Amino acid sequence: MKLLQDVSSVRNFTQKRASKQKIGLVPTMGALHQGHQELLKASLQDNDLTICSIYVNPTQFNNPDDLNKYPRTLEHDLKFLEKIGCNAVFYPPNQVMYPGEEQQLLQLSFGHLDNVLEGQHRPGHFSGVGLVVTKLLNVVQPERAYFGQKDLQQLAIIRQMVQEFFIPVEIISVPIVRESSGLALSSRNQRLSFEEKQVATQLYQTLLFAQQQYESGVSLSTIKEQSINQFSRHANIRVEYFEAVRMRDFQILEEKMEADVIAFCVAAYVGEVRLIDNIIVS
Ligand code: PAF
Repeated sequence: MKLLQDVSSVRNFTQKRASKQKIGLVPTMGALHQGHQELLKASLQDNDLTICSIYVNPTQFNNPDDLNKYPRTLEHDLKFLEKIGCNAVFYPPNQVMYPGEEQQLLQLSFGHLDNVLEGQHRPGHFSGVGLVVTKLLNVVQPERAYFGQKDLQQLAIIRQMVQEFFIPVEIISVPIVRESSGLALSSRNQRLSFEEKQVATQLYQTLLFAQQQYESGVSLSTIKEQSINQFSRHANIRVEYFEAVRMRDFQILEEKMEADVIAFCVAAYVGEVRLIDNIIVS
């Protein structure tokens, strides 16, 4: 596996490939787990070469404490990637990704997507995601890039951005991977204690409850109220939002729209750790 830390070494690597060889990019912030494994497996299957990027992107953290505590496990990650057969890993230092002055940082805005759910609760987060993903796509120039459905709104942002900037890449979304308890895999789970991990299963339990209520014809506003109530029974969970959104544009829905695919999305703190999850229903 090639270890790449700057732009020119990535370009050397990609330019040396045989003609028509396709590249898949799996962007990550490290602390790799089985969820990432599914992204990597999909890329390895679809493409001739897979590049994984590992970069804890400071501009997408609106909370400095969250950035400092984000797990960093490079040694484990490199072994993990080697074992799975990844062809190259790009793990740039900050000076490579952000060589300019901080005050001159480009800001991106995604309209309505910036004002709801993650956009509303993490100001500036999507600007940072958009910026770093654009940089990674420009450095690697892959034919395909892989993202997990757990970050559903991030996926919508990335699709919008790629379309607006005419970036020639296919965005592939990969389903959420869950533990047997239902807890969605996330690098942040490493920060949960044993007890907190058990409490965190409530996120998926409540999403399943919401799905069941939806299928029984209960109104969205009632489902939202009932779901938030369910969380209030657990002392160690603080819900930030629980919403039903229309998948195509992330409009928050109070009433069911027959033709629309909807998703229930939740963000909650379990102890000090902020978790998100979602379920798509139609
Ligand atoms: O989903 C993530 O891990 C990050 O937001 C991403 C896409 C790698 C950008 O830093």
